[in-house]
Amino acid sequence: MKLAVLVSGTGTILEAMISSGLEIRLVVADRSCRGLDIAQQAGLAIELVERTSFGRDFDRTEYSQRVVDVMRKHQIDFIAMAGFMTVFNEPMFASYDGRILNTHPSLLPAFKGAHAVRDALAYGVKVTGCTIHVATLELDAGPIMAQAAVSVESSDTEESLHERIKTVERQLYTQTVGSIIKGELRLPS
Ligand code: GRF
Repeated sequence: MKLAVLVSGTGTILEAMISSGLEIRLVVADRSCRGLDIAQQAGLAIELVERTSFGRDFDRTEYSQRVVDVMRKHQIDFIAMAGFMTVFNEPMFASYDGRILNTHPSLLPAFKGAHAVRDALAYGVKVTGCTIHVATLELDAGPIMAQAAVSVESSDTEESLHERIKTVERQLYTQTVGSIIKGELRLPS
């Protein structure tokens, strides 16, 4: 399986995947970010498919198609979104349906969306965690591949809680992607 990892931010999940020895064919970013630098320093193939608009005029279909074109160019057949902050639409799922994984910092289906850690903390849950799932057109709603729980401490801030979740997430995501590549875990058909 030719794996691409998608990043937008600090890229610590990508870093964990690289350290674990996962074979990564391509790293794609939607903006300049530490994740892209990490990939470059590791000598991986990189593509910056820059997102220039974050407003109402953002053409999500055109952007999704651009990323699909890059994936095809590199003959990618399996995609892991690792802190990638752009939501794809039809062109991506028309080409890669069932072959895109995402990680989300909550125990889905609780706390979907971009502020999962903040929302969990505000709700007052005592346990949250992370979910590795198949990405689908509907946001944060695809089949769940793996989950791990993390306790919320009374002293937690959004940052401290997210950092503890990410410690678990790096390991769980790396393991899950590795198991899929080795054929030990099957993507739902
Ligand atoms: C993870 O918590 C992921 O679930 C969320 O963004 C974080 C990515 O962290 N969407 P990093 O960029 O890999 O450090």
